[in-house]
Amino acid sequence: MKRRQLLLTLFGVPVVGSLIYGLFAKSKNQYEPVLANSPASNPPTSTESQPTFTDPSEEPLVRFAAIADTGVGSKDQYAVANAMLQTYQQKPFPFVLMAGDNIYPYGEISLAKPLFEEPYAQLLSRDIKFYAALGNHDIIKTNNGLDQINYPLFNMSDRYYSFTKGNTAEESIEFFAIDTNENAPWLEQLAWLDRQLANSTAPWKIVFGHHPLYSSGRHGSNPKLAAKLAPIFAKHKVSLYLCGHDHGYERFVPINGTTYIVNGGGGAPLYSFGKSPQTAFVSSQFSFMTFDVYQDKIITKAIATDGKVFDRAIITKIN
Ligand SMILES: [Fe+2]
Repeated sequence: MKRRQLLLTLFGVPVVGSLIYGLFAKSKNQYEPVLANSPASNPPTSTESQPTFTDPSEEPLVRFAAIADTGVGSKDQYAVANAMLQTYQQKPFPFVLMAGDNIYPYGEISLAKPLFEEPYAQLLSRDIKFYAALGNHDIIKTNNGLDQINYPLFNMSDRYYSFTKGNTAEESIEFFAIDTNENAPWLEQLAWLDRQLANSTAPWKIVFGHHPLYSSGRHGSNPKLAAKLAPIFAKHKVSLYLCGHDHGYERFVPINGTTYIVNGGGGAPLYSFGKSPQTAFVSSQFSFMTFDVYQDKIITKAIATDGKVFDRAIITKIN
């Protein structure tokens, strides 16, 4: 985030801040959005997103939430946090994936209190664990991310790491957090990811990192990143890749079996999104996601600041 935008946000005029930030950021980026979308102008394009969808009556094996592009301390970040709390009170989730740009503008851990601990105080006080990945902003003034890795509330065992949830091995989900920054130790990390996924016995494998492989937002798709990661995801049947970086929401139809979701509406100023032929649903709004994991499916929900679900999908196992 630009310093000027942060100042405007801190002084309580995030809307103006967003506009100025948008002008500056736009001029710096080559990618031009095809069109600006709003939820109203952008109806679901997937049959999986129909409002007739009903939740199964049985409890999921695991439920979790996800956010990204959060750490600005804006009213929008608080609005998303408040919607998360409301959702939690109806359907508790024990942990949250946080896919980077955890602290703007430079990742400074000295700002963790106002930009992380305070916005999510209600969730943290309920012992909800946050598992973070490093965004581009998180490596600037943080000893290349080390300060965030060492910050206990981000629960990062390293700059890339995995953890498993679920009550039994047969009903487990393994999560893989990766560092998608250009200066990441790519050779090591890709070898680790390939090996870790190969050794995983979990029926569900979910990867999260900051940068999208595919996106119709301002930053757009990243062919270099896709060339590195997509073959590994396909080879090991990764069901879901969750990211942020483009500030808005976009879900793709499964690409070689993997569902890709940009979930960057956590509080930083929104970007305009276009759409691609592989876009299943896109809407640039402040939001977070929940995931209900069952033996045979994962139900994904994108939830707006009013607590309403604006996109749902069912991810099934890859054959
Ligand atoms: Fe980012």
